[in-house]
Amino acid sequence: MEVLIFPDAQSLARKSADLVESQIKTFPDSVIGLATGSTPLGLYEELIRRYNEHDLSFAGVKTFNLDEYVGIPANHPQSYRTFMDDNLFSKINIESSNTQVPDGMAGNPLDVGPAYEKMIEKAGGIDLQVLGVGTDGHIGFNEPTSSLGSITRVKTLTKQTIEDNSRFFKPDEFQPKLAITMGIKTILDARRILLLAHGENKAEAVKDMVEGPLSAMCPASALQLHQRTTILIDEPAASKLSLKGYYKFVGEMQDDLVRKHRPSDWISR
Ligand code: GLP
Repeated sequence: MEVLIFPDAQSLARKSADLVESQIKTFPDSVIGLATGSTPLGLYEELIRRYNEHDLSFAGVKTFNLDEYVGIPANHPQSYRTFMDDNLFSKINIESSNTQVPDGMAGNPLDVGPAYEKMIEKAGGIDLQVLGVGTDGHIGFNEPTSSLGSITRVKTLTKQTIEDNSRFFKPDEFQPKLAITMGIKTILDARRILLLAHGENKAEAVKDMVEGPLSAMCPASALQLHQRTTILIDEPAASKLSLKGYYKFVGEMQDDLVRKHRPSDWISR
C-alpha cells in the first residue's frame, strides 16, 4: 500500500487526475471504476478541465460505478446516476452506453449484483478503481462486517452512513436505507486502486485502513491485501497515522526510483 500525503485537497486532486490521465492516455480503452461523494469531485473537475484544455479523450473509456441507492429512480436528484451525469459524464466525451451504474430500481434488486459482475467481466475487468472512504471505513457501500470476499449485492446502510449522507436529502424527503454496491472482492479484483480522502473527519478511518488490523470492521483495511493500491490523502486526513513521517520518506525515495527507472510504473495491464 502506497500512501501519498498532500498539503491540501487541490494538490491531491491534481495528482489523482495525473494518474487517471496517464492510464487513459496509455490505454484509451481503459475500464475505470468510479466513486461518488464529495471526495472525488476535485478529481472530476480536473479531468473535465483536461478534457477541455488538453487532449484527454474519453471516447474509448468504459466506466463502472461502485454503487447506487435502492428505491430512487435514476433521474432522482440524489441518485448516483444523476451525480455522475451532472459532475462528470455530461461534461466529457464519454458515450453514455459506456457508463454503468447499478440499477437501483430493478424489479428484483437481488438480481442486479450477479448481472453487474458479468458486465464487468465482459468488459475485461476494471483497470483502475477510484475510491473514497466513509467515516466508518466503508468503501463503496460495504459497511463494517461486510464479507471481505463479497461481490456486488444489496447492503443495508449503517445509521452513521445514513446520517453522513442525510445532508444531501431534504428533511421530509425519502432517504434510502439500502444500496447495491460492488463487493470487496469486486474492488480488490481491480488491477490498480486509487483511494482518495481529505479532511479531519476521515482521519480515524484512514488510520484504521492503513495501520489498523485487517478486519471486516474496517472494510477499507482489505486494501492492505491489494498489490497496487495508492492512498492519496491530505494532511488533516493523515493526522492520526503513526508512521506519517515514514510514508513521506517512502514517497521521496520512490519518486527518485520511479523517475530514474520506470516512469510509467504505476499504469495497469
Ligand atoms: C458514500 C459512497 C462512498 C463514498 C462515501 C464518502 O457512502 N457510497 O463511495 O466514498 O460516501 O463520501 P464523501 O466523499 O462525501 O465523504
